Amino acid sequence: MSQPTPSRRTLGLTVAAAACGLLLAGAAQAQQAPLKVGFMLPATGTFAALGDFIEKGFKLHVQEQGGKLGGREIQYFKVDDESDPSKATDNVNKLIKRDQVDVIVGTVHSGVALAMARAARESNTLLIVPNAGADAITGAQCAKNIFRSSFSNWQPGYAAGVVAAGKGYKRAMTITWNYAAGQETVKGFTEAFEKGGGKVAKELTLPFPNVEFQALLTEIAAQKPDVVFAFFAGGGAVKFVKDYDAAGLKKTVPLVASGFLTDGTLEAQGASAQGILSTLHYADNIDTPRNNAFRKSFALTYKANADVYAVQGYDAAQMLAAGLNAVKGDFTKRDALLEAMNKAVIDSPRGKFSLSPQRNPVQDIFLREAKGTNNELRGVAVKALADPGRGCRS
Ligand code: BEZ
Repeated sequence: MSQPTPSRRTLGLTVAAAACGLLLAGAAQAQQAPLKVGFMLPATGTFAALGDFIEKGFKLHVQEQGGKLGGREIQYFKVDDESDPSKATDNVNKLIKRDQVDVIVGTVHSGVALAMARAARESNTLLIVPNAGADAITGAQCAKNIFRSSFSNWQPGYAAGVVAAGKGYKRAMTITWNYAAGQETVKGFTEAFEKGGGKVAKELTLPFPNVEFQALLTEIAAQKPDVVFAFFAGGGAVKFVKDYDAAGLKKTVPLVASGFLTDGTLEAQGASAQGILSTLHYADNIDTPRNNAFRKSFALTYKANADVYAVQGYDAAQMLAAGLNAVKGDFTKRDALLEAMNKAVIDSPRGKFSLSPQRNPVQDIFLREAKGTNNELRGVAVKALADPGRGCRS
């Protein structure tokens, strides 16, 4: 028996119903499929330990939420960026094109992060920067899909300048690696220090990640400034602090530093670091229930003490969670997700913070003193410091 031929109208309805079914099934699948998070962090080189703690911090928050954010399981992907800007575009494209991740979390090094931001803007991939301070990321190169859970280089530098000028120092020398983070941190320091009546007499630099400090330390000893401002981090910071002490400078020329000089490094720096004053958006012994609970949870999970990098990774996950919770895990509701992330108040171990219109934390920058293996809180250097976000147009 032959089948009756369906009318055009019946056929149209059938096709529409099938398409509708497919759409619904697709939406349900999008709700259920794990969200792909790609870590692009250093696993080797002078910043390797920093990348490790960022990843640990991020995963800790996800674990505390039962392994899900906004109801979505999280699937992780990883690339070691080696803190090498020349490999950054290829590396980030492994996550964007090969792994097709939904979100990128990275990185530590400002030069690498600038290349990542370019790729994220071009591909419209959501990027959360959990450390790198390159000012342009939430400045001239800002974009609606690029967020930072950490700081801009200008912020801790500026706060250190306020502290050094407030102590009455008049003549400073600065010392750092010659790349975006070093240059911009020194610029922030100089802006505040000179506004406060001081003068930066000389800027000393060496290429990243070199650690041959001797010639520069000899120059400091000869010039005898009132204060030295330094930015180094990770393995390089350990070597610098030890060399500064061994050169006899610790006793003669006070150091005021960006807090990265002594964060995550105090155990290795030992006696050489004791007493160093620094400015940062975190201090180990912030005595709040939130920070105490975070530090306890981190220590229990990883058998290690949390540091600023762990906090920044943890808060990157909190920022993503704020967006995903607002859309019940539906990543296709992109505008609502981005808006919720931008408006979120993050309950961070450092203290609650909100984001500037350019999507960088507006936060207290603390004055800390290195004591034992802690960077102890000595006060607030600058309250609710917002990066100026110069040049950001979106
Ligand atoms: C940076 O390159 O932006 C950076 C690296 C380590 C610590 C802080 C900042």
